[in-house]
Amino acid sequence: MKKVLFVCLGNICRSPTAHGVFQSLVDQNGLSEQIHVDSAGTAAYHVGNPPDSRSTETAKKRGYDLTPLRARQAIEEDFYEFDYILAMDSSNLINLKAIRPSDYDGHLSLFLDFTSMSEAEVPDPYYGGDAGFEHVLDLVESASQGLLEQIKKEL
Ligand code: 4NP
Repeated sequence: MKKVLFVCLGNICRSPTAHGVFQSLVDQNGLSEQIHVDSAGTAAYHVGNPPDSRSTETAKKRGYDLTPLRARQAIEEDFYEFDYILAMDSSNLINLKAIRPSDYDGHLSLFLDFTSMSEAEVPDPYYGGDAGFEHVLDLVESASQGLLEQIKKEL
């Protein structure tokens, strides 16, 4: 069993998108018993809320259902639970490093380390237009493929 946690700031746009896209890929590959997927935010602003409707609609157009997801905050205990903790941007990564136990021996990095696309971070789409949400989906779909290939080698 491998456990994967996607993390952004609010857990209502980028990380739930990654959660839904990667879960769908895991399911399509028949690996839902072997890979557990979750998401969280470094901030608590939106705890308990469903994903932003713009993320839900953009994902739905590509066949992903984000509606069951609810926001929660990332906590230190997540480091005892998850093998992969993947940040959407470098600010999220800094915040995660601040709560990482010194003995964490899992994988903490930027999610886009798993794609060969030129960008390093998934940009925050919250204050922008629809194109930003489409771009999040493009980046997340690409990195999800790369992440699955990596985890498959370890199962
Ligand atoms: P996310 O986007 O980190 O991708 O979920 C944001 C959601 C909410 C806020 C910022 C970013 N906010 O400031 O409330």
